[in-house]
Amino acid sequence: MCGIVAYIGSKDAAPILLEGLARLEYRGYDSAGVAVAAKGGLKMVKKKGRVADLAAVVPARFKGTAGIGHTRWATHGEPSDANSHPHLDGAQRFAVVHNGIIENADQLRAKLEADGVVFASETDTEVLVHLIAAEAKTETELEDAVRAALSRIVGTYGIAVLDAEQPDRIVVARNGSPIVLGIGEKEMFAASDVAALVRYTRQVVHLDDGELATVRADGFQTFTQDARATAKKPSTVDWEEASYDTAGHAHFLIKEIHEQPAAVERTLSGRVDERFATAHLGGLNLDAREARAFRRVKILGCGSAYYSGELGAQLIEELARIPAHAEPASEFRYRNPVIEADTLYIAVSQSGETYDTLAAVQEIKRKGGRVLGVVNTVGSAIARECDGGVYLHAGPEISVASTKAFTSTAVAFALIALHFGRVHDLSPADGHRICAGLKALPGQIREILAQEKEIAELAAAYAHNAGMMFVGRVRGWPVAREGAQKLKEVSYVHAEAYPASELKHGPLALIGPELPTVALVPDDELVEKNLTTMGEIRARHGRVLMVGHTAPDPKFAEDTILIPKNEPELDPILLGIPLQLLAYYAAVALERDVDKPRNLAKSVTVE
Ligand code: AGP
Repeated sequence: MCGIVAYIGSKDAAPILLEGLARLEYRGYDSAGVAVAAKGGLKMVKKKGRVADLAAVVPARFKGTAGIGHTRWATHGEPSDANSHPHLDGAQRFAVVHNGIIENADQLRAKLEADGVVFASETDTEVLVHLIAAEAKTETELEDAVRAALSRIVGTYGIAVLDAEQPDRIVVARNGSPIVLGIGEKEMFAASDVAALVRYTRQVVHLDDGELATVRADGFQTFTQDARATAKKPSTVDWEEASYDTAGHAHFLIKEIHEQPAAVERTLSGRVDERFATAHLGGLNLDAREARAFRRVKILGCGSAYYSGELGAQLIEELARIPAHAEPASEFRYRNPVIEADTLYIAVSQSGETYDTLAAVQEIKRKGGRVLGVVNTVGSAIARECDGGVYLHAGPEISVASTKAFTSTAVAFALIALHFGRVHDLSPADGHRICAGLKALPGQIREILAQEKEIAELAAAYAHNAGMMFVGRVRGWPVAREGAQKLKEVSYVHAEAYPASELKHGPLALIGPELPTVALVPDDELVEKNLTTMGEIRARHGRVLMVGHTAPDPKFAEDTILIPKNEPELDPILLGIPLQLLAYYAAVALERDVDKPRNLAKSVTVE
């Protein structure tokens, strides 16, 4: 949530900052701003709206070789020019950009106002810049003033601070919101995400929580909140700049939908062990005896990550016969959960930054529980907090709506379930069956994507309804939930997901010609039950779009999307793919802002 970028070197900072902000816009997009240290003081431009709106008003003479920028997702105060970042102190000596929430902002603001400080915005961030200015009256070095100010705040932050009187440096700090440094040739960068840096450098350093850094054109120093120097080793970003472009596609969303065969190949790469009909997952850090000792599995994530966790729980119960359950991390963390020594906890997150999921992990660990991560972003906060886990290797996911990470997460869970199954009672024959099924997935996803044109036509036909119902049973139920979520978030069409078995216990009252239903009907032991439900919908003149393996009698469904058959346990992974295309093309038909849906941001780094 919110994107930060900073540059210091010998080049003009503004174009670099604006380019970086455009790359970070998926993190928040209600306003943006930049500040540079120029001869004679700071220059700043900020504006409500998109980065392109900001770029249009940055004057040609906006010169300076050190600068900071920000793209915002509002928490304190509505999107407006005044609430946009950077924020300046009264003397306009310091500029601050911030990602996170300062929880004691109201108390600090009252105190600062009592001391005569006049505020220019409603934001929590502005408190911080005034605190830095106050501390600078006694601390001569910028980093000391920043440390002193940070010691007075409670909350989360990733920040970058510019000082007109010390333009040879930028100070950045991290606590709960990511900051990564980029090492260039006689120039340095900092950002909340490597997406802003890869065009310039692939050598990066991730700050840890509680760490600060002084960044100068010729290098950086890192230190703790109590001024002890820390040693950091640069790492190389795996992904090329092109991974952060739409590469000729109309949107990141459709590009990422099409990247799924390759993403799944990477998730599976080196992990399918055909000799022992199992999965090889060294990162779990669990030997066979430990893996056998767990009596239950609890999976935690938010939004689509939670729904992929539901698919994971289903897979673990089916293949390993270990009771498994998924729960929204955002609820779990607030209910004083009972943490059991013989439960394995698994946190799911594409970004590895989702604050609620991170807080759930920290709560489990504080109580002595063991947590694994299923995470896409290497080196992210959740990945680092967990005791082990599985990286997805799905590649950067830029569109706010998750697609390839969802699918790769389900595949990672299939590997985990296979591994646990084979240390329990899954037979070698069943292990081989699942290994073969996993290897068939990328090709089968390609087959589904080849139906893009037909699915686009269906999406355009269904998009103009006021709402849609998604139903599935057992294996199809998490897929129905994710399908409804995808449609809602990108097209703004109201969508409800229900277990097909629950329809007649209430929501059947909604069914009629104006509310079509998407029914997920794999060819499994429940196919007849699903057809009965579809018949009940049709009897109420509800239109049905069936996604499954065998075309039904036309009396059950007006429209059908047929997908290739895999093993029953793995079929849900494929059932989800047409629903992504359906949501995407519905959003296109309704002319929505597909990659940046209203009110949302890619990484929810606040509570
Ligand atoms: C997915 O389409 C959503 N944008 C959202 O539900 C997302 O999955 C959720 O916020 C969790 O994000 P994470 O995977 O980065 O933790």
